[in-house]
Amino acid sequence: MRENPLVLHVLGARPNFVKAAPVVRGLGALGVRQGIVHTGQHYDALMSDVFFADLGLPEPIANLGVGSGSHARQTAALLVGLEEVVLAHRPDLVVVYGDVNSTLAAILVCAKLGVPTAHVEAGLRSFDREMPEEVNRVVTDALADLLLVTSPDGLSHLANEGVPPGKVHLVGNPMIDSLFSALPKLDPEPVRARLGLPERYAVATLHRPGNVDDPASARELVEGVLAVAEQVPIVVPLHPRGRGRLAEAGLVTGGNLSIIDPLGYVEFLSLVRGAALVVTDSGGVQEETTMLGVPCLTVRPNTERPITITHGTNRLVTPATLPAAASKALADGAATPSGELPPLWDGAAGPRIARVIEAWLRGDNLSPASHGTPPTA
Ligand code: UD1
Ligand code: UDP
Repeated sequence: MRENPLVLHVLGARPNFVKAAPVVRGLGALGVRQGIVHTGQHYDALMSDVFFADLGLPEPIANLGVGSGSHARQTAALLVGLEEVVLAHRPDLVVVYGDVNSTLAAILVCAKLGVPTAHVEAGLRSFDREMPEEVNRVVTDALADLLLVTSPDGLSHLANEGVPPGKVHLVGNPMIDSLFSALPKLDPEPVRARLGLPERYAVATLHRPGNVDDPASARELVEGVLAVAEQVPIVVPLHPRGRGRLAEAGLVTGGNLSIIDPLGYVEFLSLVRGAALVVTDSGGVQEETTMLGVPCLTVRPNTERPITITHGTNRLVTPATLPAAASKALADGAATPSGELPPLWDGAAGPRIARVIEAWLRGDNLSPASHGTPPTA
């Protein structure tokens, strides 16, 4: 390995920023040379800039500005842009996050150029190949050199896929590190007042293609949400993907329903913290509600994060079962079935990941026995 090796983080979409911040901080504390490459997959100020500010992320060393497009067009632009950046900077390791198209493109580019990679949030599986994210996860985990796993079920998925155990490390969940760091700033009152919400309210986020792209599915979903709005005021900070289709299907501000722009990280989590109920199809929000103890109804047929059901406040619903599930959740409040939160969701995943990466850069042979508990300095 070169002296003073370089680590590049490839980030493109909103959840990437949240997952990367603790890793960047952890590597910074160890004095590792690093830089962020922003692909520009998400580019609206409220989908990107606000996260750099709220999470204290350093300015990217490059922004590829790939923007939106079909899967093929977007991925093609990502491949071309990322290849140039990787060739120009010659990193010793590229770290990729989650399951978005920027992640997939980065892992492909690096595999072809022979540049080593680490995947943060390896091993999650919904076993639903109709979801673009599942395709991205499977390909990314097949090609990554270091697989950094956020929840124990990921270990068995990777073992079943034949990933050598020596590459795999259970490190905990850096998205939860970000949540813990933000916790002192999470005050529901100012945002509740700004949005004119009463004390008891629900928050919804919706953006999955399976829910919002097809007009018939969007209509069913909106009917379910409107039925919940008969029980409790709902605010929906709406992802740009769903905007047009959901509005056509009747998701418009009026009565108990308030449709707003996406919120910055701290404001959004403040709102979630004070909510009586969250309705979502987001991956990250399933995890954050588990940690905040807020009941969460996930409008999806499956989840790659079953630990938020077994160890958290999450329930899967369909648009048709949503209203009754909301009524029950509003009456019962949150309960975690196992009474235990997910292991290693303790706010220290970033430092753990940084230690695994630093040891790997030094060429230390990390044994799988070091999962979760790499030696502290
Ligand atoms: C992407 C990820 C998804 C993740 C989500 C997080 C893929 C395949 N999907 O979905 O896994 O859950 O990000 O939010 O990578 N748009 C804007 N402004 C922006 C960004 C997007 O208006 O800043 C609109 C565009 O119309 C675009 C659409 O949103 O076509 C979808 O954006 P895209 O990044 O392709 O996928 P997401 O649905 O955001
Ligand atoms: N989030 C936010 N503002 C919003 C909606 C979500 O800051 O208006 C945060 C949320 O707290 C979580 C992340 O964005 O940290 C999740 O992103 P998203 O739901 O877009 O992606 P997913 O997790 O489904 O891939």
